[in-house]
Amino acid sequence: VHGNINIRKGFQKRLRVKIISMGNAEVGKSCIIKRYCERRFVSKYLPTVGIDYGVTKVHVNQKELKVNIFDMAGHPYFFEVRNEFYRDTQAALLVFDVCDRRSFESLESWLVEMKQEMGRTQNIDNVLFFVCANKIDKVKRDVSTLEGRLWAESKGFHYFETSAASGEGINEMFQDLFNKLVEMSENGGCPPVINTNLGFTKEQADAILRIRNGRDNYEKLGIHHTATRDEINRAYRKLAVLLHPDKNVAPGSEDAFKILVNARTSLLHNK
Ligand code: GTP
Ligand code: MG
Repeated sequence: VHGNINIRKGFQKRLRVKIISMGNAEVGKSCIIKRYCERRFVSKYLPTVGIDYGVTKVHVNQKELKVNIFDMAGHPYFFEVRNEFYRDTQAALLVFDVCDRRSFESLESWLVEMKQEMGRTQNIDNVLFFVCANKIDKVKRDVSTLEGRLWAESKGFHYFETSAASGEGINEMFQDLFNKLVEMSENGGCPPVINTNLGFTKEQADAILRIRNGRDNYEKLGIHHTATRDEINRAYRKLAVLLHPDKNVAPGSEDAFKILVNARTSLLHNK
């Protein structure tokens, strides 16, 4: 009998969720949503005024999901309008434009704004974050996949590369989002424990980025140009422990390790 009741409940259960979009003006928040809901793309920029609201129904594992989407305006001018919409949110799309570094760096301040506005009514840790690195159809990228992924995953966020223009990544992103929302509801409202990707620390992520982006070998190792052989070796060992391919599963760690070894070799050679 219990079994039957559970099955009936399972079928009848309709889930209502609220999703918001966040990110600087013009990064493509509205276009991502439009691409998914209406399967089309408009290249003319029509700034969202305040907030746009839409609702859509989807099915996940025979469960009906009623998805309320609050598409926020990115421009600071609209802060007063959007601030009240942060509450009671299950999931947030954090969108940046891969050709606009500032939009990537602003994501932190969007998190701050959200946290502030949610106040004590809700714990931000219970919100599911999906980072969308958007406009990947454009050629001149300013933020690499590695950098985007490292930032997202070191925070426990999901990371997707999207193009509202070509449609790439959009359905996959929403499908994963809906699956996770259902999982979350089955989990008593707590976001599912973030998967295996997170086998690395922020320290490791920062080391990888520095090694890859450092302008010269000194910078890669994080040492001064006057460093002695001893200092070079010490810096090397510290980083090697951090990045050893045997234990570091952060994306890019293997390459970084090779760069590190080469940097040390050539620095010692020139001393
Ligand atoms: P606000 O509502 O002002 O916060 O902006 P938004 O983030 O909603 O941006 P919107 O979706 O309106 O898109 C901004 C501009 O970027 C528009 O001109 C879009 O056509 C363009 N755009 C959006 N997504 C993409 C994309 O994936 N690729 C390219 N090439 N352009 C895009
Ligand atoms: Mg918009």
